[in-house]
Amino acid sequence: MLIELKNINKKFALGEKNFQALREISLAIATGEYVSIMGTSGAGKTTLIDIIGFLDRDYTGSYTFNGRDVSQMTENQAAQLRNTHVGFVFQNFKLIPNLSVFENVELPLLYAGKRRGETRPIVEEALASVGLANTGAKLPNQLSGGQQQRVSIARAIINEPDFIIADEPTGALDSGTSIEIMKIFQSLHRQGKTLLIVTHDPKVGQQAQRMIRLEDGQIVMDGRESNDSPRTD
Ligand SMILES: Nc1ncnc2c1ncn2[C@@H]1O[C@H](COP(=O)(O)OP(=O)(O)OP(=O)(O)O)[C@@H](O)[C@H]1O
Ligand SMILES: [Mg+2]
Repeated sequence: MLIELKNINKKFALGEKNFQALREISLAIATGEYVSIMGTSGAGKTTLIDIIGFLDRDYTGSYTFNGRDVSQMTENQAAQLRNTHVGFVFQNFKLIPNLSVFENVELPLLYAGKRRGETRPIVEEALASVGLANTGAKLPNQLSGGQQQRVSIARAIINEPDFIIADEPTGALDSGTSIEIMKIFQSLHRQGKTLLIVTHDPKVGQQAQRMIRLEDGQIVMDGRESNDSPRTD
C-alpha cells in the first residue's frame, strides 16, 4: 500500500486547551488512485493532507508510506520524502514571482540534486505536458490564473513523485478554467499518477474515482457518490 494511516489523531494547542482537528483517521490509498477529499471549512482537510504530505509529523497513530514508518523518520528523511515523493499544487499557485516559468518548474529538480545542465529536456517535457510549450521564458505574472496553475502542476510532476496533493487547485479559477485544470488531472490519472485533491466544488470532487468526506475531523464517507442529486446547471 502506498499510503496507510491508522488511528491518526491530531490536536492543536489552543490556549490552555487542545483542539482536536483529526479523530481516529484510518485510510489506505493505493498507487494509481484518484481521491477527492471534501468537507466544510474547518473539517480538517488541510490538516490531513499536511500529514499525508510529510509536512506535519506531530500526531498520534501510525502512518506507513510504502512500508516505511513515517513517524519514526528523522526530519531529514521526512524532508527527503517531501522533496522527491510528493508534488504539491496549491489554490494560489505559490510560484516564485521573480523566477521564470522555466526556473519555477526546474527548482524541484535542483533540490533533488540534478545539475543545471541536465534539466532542460525534463522541464520542457513537463511544460509541454500541461500545454505550455514555449512559455518557459515568461514570468508568472505574465500568465493567466489557469496558466499559472498549469505551471504549478508541471512543477508538481517534475520529479515524478509517487503522488500529487492538490489543495483547492481550482479555488481561485473561473469555472471554464477549472474544467481545463480538471482535464489535466484526469490525464495524469490516466497516466497512472496517484492524486489527492481537496475541494469544495462537487463537480471537481465527482471527477475522482473515490470521494472521502470529512466532518469535524472524522471520515464520514469514503466511497463513490453515485446517486447524488442531479446537477442543476
Ligand atoms: N495551527 C493551528 N492552530 C490551531 N488550530 C488550527 C491550526 N490549524 C488548523 N486549526 C484548526 O483545525 C481545524 C481544521 O483546519 P483545516 O485547516 O484542516 O480545515 P480545512 O478543512 O482545510 O478548512 P478549509 O476548507 O477552510 O481550508 C479548524 O478548526 C482550524 O481552526
Ligand atoms: Mg484547507
